Amino acid sequence: MKAQILEINQQNLEEASALLKQGELVGVPTETVYGLAGNAWDEKALFKIFQAKERPAFDPLIVHFYWKATSGSILEKLEQMGLAKTKTFAAPVRNRLESLLSAFWPGPLTVVLPKHPQIPALATSGLETVALRMPSHPVFQKLLDLTGFPLAAPSANRFGRVSPTRAEHVYSELGDRIPVILDGGSCQFGIESSVIRVDPQGEWELLRPGATPLSNLVSYLGKPCRQTQNEKMDDDSLLIKPQVSPGLLARHYAPSKPLYLLPDLISHLTPSQKGHLKNWVSNQGGNSGFGLLVMQEVQDKTLIELEKTTGAPLLKKEILSSGGGLEEAAGKLFTALRTLEESQAHVLISEPCLSREGLGPAIADRLQRASHVL
Ligand code: TXA
Ligand code: MG
Repeated sequence: MKAQILEINQQNLEEASALLKQGELVGVPTETVYGLAGNAWDEKALFKIFQAKERPAFDPLIVHFYWKATSGSILEKLEQMGLAKTKTFAAPVRNRLESLLSAFWPGPLTVVLPKHPQIPALATSGLETVALRMPSHPVFQKLLDLTGFPLAAPSANRFGRVSPTRAEHVYSELGDRIPVILDGGSCQFGIESSVIRVDPQGEWELLRPGATPLSNLVSYLGKPCRQTQNEKMDDDSLLIKPQVSPGLLARHYAPSKPLYLLPDLISHLTPSQKGHLKNWVSNQGGNSGFGLLVMQEVQDKTLIELEKTTGAPLLKKEILSSGGGLEEAAGKLFTALRTLEESQAHVLISEPCLSREGLGPAIADRLQRASHVL
């Protein structure tokens, strides 16, 4: 199978919707990253998602749905649609959740709630909770409207790989495995949704930092965010039980070349940090050249110094944010990682994202998970 990349028009949306109704998968643009969509009610379609992505069955999917704004209760609507069961939530918790959801949906926030029995166990990897998101991308909304059922959609990359932010990326990841990719251009945020879990007592935790900054959520939830600690993963635990948030696997978003995440900006590295970097480059066989990811433009003399430190030439440099903005950096991150992995460089080096504001933690998280285990 070779995927067709389709431009956005009514006929192509209808074609994509017809494929979804037949239980096929479609690559779809969202405001965060491209998704690999399949009918959330159809076990066979869900199975195909896991197969196409080579995703382990312990990693549950996000279920996407859409309805046009109504004045009624969002939680009741989720119940009617067979998505979530929140009747056991205390009234003040329900009220807070209502105001949170009406503020952030549609948009890049995924909320994990107790699942409705109607949701197939495969979608949630056997967990009693389900991850739900109402996307704001008009193409995805239109498709949800046309199909009439919710769509399970993980990011449209092979498991553990860099998420796709353009239709061509989906093609290079999954083009031999799916029939159609809808081409909605570049994604607005370029980084996945934030994932939070809320329990019936109103305790909540951030399972994945993402395109909705944590600081925006706090005032809606009334309590401080609980810190998530994924249990230490070893091969056995993977087989026995699903993780609290499987997407928090240490190695994820990985480019195909080893990436070294610097502990500090290049110009601030200590002699011992430089020594560690030099050893790493040579142990990885990277002396023929490296690719570099920086947050902002770096002076030539700093780059020459880095070449001296590593004993290797700089072959390709990607700047995430020439203007210094975190939105710009998030939007370029995954494309920059792809450009670097396609370059001649044998190894990749990245500056860290040190900002704790806005999208900073989400960028830092993705870089951490993209980096080579040291
Ligand atoms: O922006 C996004 O969220 C994109 C677009 C396509 O919507 N989707 C996405 O899906 O990033 P995926 O499958 O790559 O990431 C879903 C994350 C994973 O970390 C998964 O472990 C977590 O959500 N998740 C899903 N269901 C969960 C549950 N019941 N409990 C805890 N974590 C869950
Ligand atoms: Mg993903």
